[in-house]
Amino acid sequence: MGNVIAQKYYKKLAKKYLVEARNFIPKYDEILKQILDLSQIKNSKKILDIGCGAGNLEELILKKFPNSQITCVEASPKMAQISRSKLAKYKENVKIIKIDILDFKPTEKYGLIISNIVLHNISYDKKEKLLKKIRGWLKSDGIFIWGDLIKYDDKKMQEFFVNYRLKFGLARGGNKKFAKENFEKEEKYDFPFTIEKTLEILRKVGYKQSKKVWNHDTFAIFYMRK
Ligand SMILES: C[S@@+](CC[C@H](N)C(=O)[O-])C[C@H]1O[C@@H](n2cnc3c(N)ncnc32)[C@H](O)[C@@H]1O
Repeated sequence: MGNVIAQKYYKKLAKKYLVEARNFIPKYDEILKQILDLSQIKNSKKILDIGCGAGNLEELILKKFPNSQITCVEASPKMAQISRSKLAKYKENVKIIKIDILDFKPTEKYGLIISNIVLHNISYDKKEKLLKKIRGWLKSDGIFIWGDLIKYDDKKMQEFFVNYRLKFGLARGGNKKFAKENFEKEEKYDFPFTIEKTLEILRKVGYKQSKKVWNHDTFAIFYMRK
């Protein structure tokens, strides 16, 4: 199990998450668009999405690249159920596997692996090993695009961006109780790295190229070539 707290959180807040993600992740749609643009998917490319949530990325990818074959790994039964019904019309193209990514043993290799706002749920002691495994699941010319929550070593900067997200969400009419639970979870039970530490680990696990391609408030996107 990656992080039991996170699993409980998504069980309880799955439906609310769908609405509130856009409130408290100010650039949520921009993050999805960036990942889609970076993907440069050739039709029929085999894709793995780690932690597909409600299947928002899948909808975008399949609209643009209708022949893609996407395997989604999702640990939360509720989230898996939501994405299954949302993506039902694409059932020839999407396979949703309800499993913790730490227990996932793929039988094929992927040209593209994506993961958005998920791997911060994996504890620090397990993250490096998982990132190494992910590299191993890629074809030799494969690409890994990783969007995630990040943190800043500088306390003031961290506080500023957390407050920025909170104010942004509340001004949009975001739910106060959700905000409280979400920010408490991020502070106590999530395991984000700084951008610098992320790049250091990605180099260590052997990626030929690893680059931070986008960053805003407490989120960043990294692009890796195997
Ligand atoms: C913040 S949501 C992001 C969902 C989606 N990627 C998106 O961009 O909207 C995180 C998702 O990752 C899933 N998740 C968290 N830890 C996981 C793990 N260890 N294995 C698989 N899925 C996990 C959660 O259940 C949740 O659905």
